[in-house]
Amino acid sequence: MNTISKIERNNSYLKVIWSDGKESQFNYLWLRDNCPTAHDKNTNHRMFNILEVSKNINPKKYIINKDGKLEIEWSEGEHTSYFDPKWLRENCYTLKNKTKYKSPYKLWDNSLKKNFKSICIDHDEIINSDKGLKKWLELLHYTGIAIVKNTPVKDKSAFPVLNRISHTRETFFKTPFEVINIPKPNNSAYTAHALRNHMDLPWFENPPGYQFLHCLINAAEGGDSSAVDGFAVAEYLKNNKIDVYKILTEVYLKFRDKDYTQDNHRGFHAPAIGLTKDKDYHDIRFSIATMDSLDCHPDLMDKVYKAHHEFGNLLHDDRFQIKFRMEPGDIFSFNNRRVLHGRTEFNPQSGNRHLQGYYIDRDEIIGRLNFLKLTNL
Ligand code: OGA
Ligand code: ZN
Repeated sequence: MNTISKIERNNSYLKVIWSDGKESQFNYLWLRDNCPTAHDKNTNHRMFNILEVSKNINPKKYIINKDGKLEIEWSEGEHTSYFDPKWLRENCYTLKNKTKYKSPYKLWDNSLKKNFKSICIDHDEIINSDKGLKKWLELLHYTGIAIVKNTPVKDKSAFPVLNRISHTRETFFKTPFEVINIPKPNNSAYTAHALRNHMDLPWFENPPGYQFLHCLINAAEGGDSSAVDGFAVAEYLKNNKIDVYKILTEVYLKFRDKDYTQDNHRGFHAPAIGLTKDKDYHDIRFSIATMDSLDCHPDLMDKVYKAHHEFGNLLHDDRFQIKFRMEPGDIFSFNNRRVLHGRTEFNPQSGNRHLQGYYIDRDEIIGRLNFLKLTNL
């Protein structure tokens, strides 16, 4: 374990030199705000209010005490803080900012089809063990896709396995939504038409993070599924067509829904490729069916449409997409804001086809996985 070898005082921070020679800066306001007594033991919320000390707070005295803790007597508030060096090292923002960011995502292309088994997991394994649940969540978070096999095929029978993760995300389509062909459909999913690779609900500010299509019956001719890793296609463009990539990350597109069953017009502007603070992929917005009439600047429109065209074609290119057929009992589960999904046309006269769809927010997937990672399984 690293111990503190030396401390130096500066204008706004203490410089800590560690036994392995590494150096950290700890800002005074940051230290005072993160005093171990600042948080309530039950809620874990901060009870201490940084706004009640001045911006000039600083250590009146500081030492490494006999327990090896950094002890700071503050210039105001008659307060002393005791910091565990292990905690300081783990939360050191100086070292964190020096480490190169590593993406958690495993990008994939059409070659995933050869390892299709690697993304399949048995329903009972998830129901009966946290290890199985963790494996499913890892597939969902890192690879963005998993097929749960052998789920019971009764009405709503995907609930128990989904609730192993958390609650579902409600939308006006209701939970589950029934994917069958209906007369006078309010969504193209509820027809027998082919669906081009798309995400669901791109017109929401926060589209559902994950989608689960539970296959109850797939006895009609056609209706085969497709999936494509939008992050992998974005990465390809970044490496090969940076101008197209720049347009897709910078220009805001527009999506909308005017569902005739709803007294509601929903719409949202977002770039086709959203990035995180580390410039990793955050999400993809792509849906030919529900992209609105774009309203970007006239000087950009031609470039934007050509970039959209190029991106859309790659999202349907057999180099990137995988094709498979869902069997009754499968739950095709995927990151709705990364992996685009589609299906071929089916013939409703030839047999029945019935899927039940569910959504779960991304916070629930990542939060549950974070929790399970802390438990030794
Ligand atoms: C959907 C959808 C795919 C299918 O309901 O959003 O894309 O295979 N369905 O029917
Ligand atoms: Zn869909």
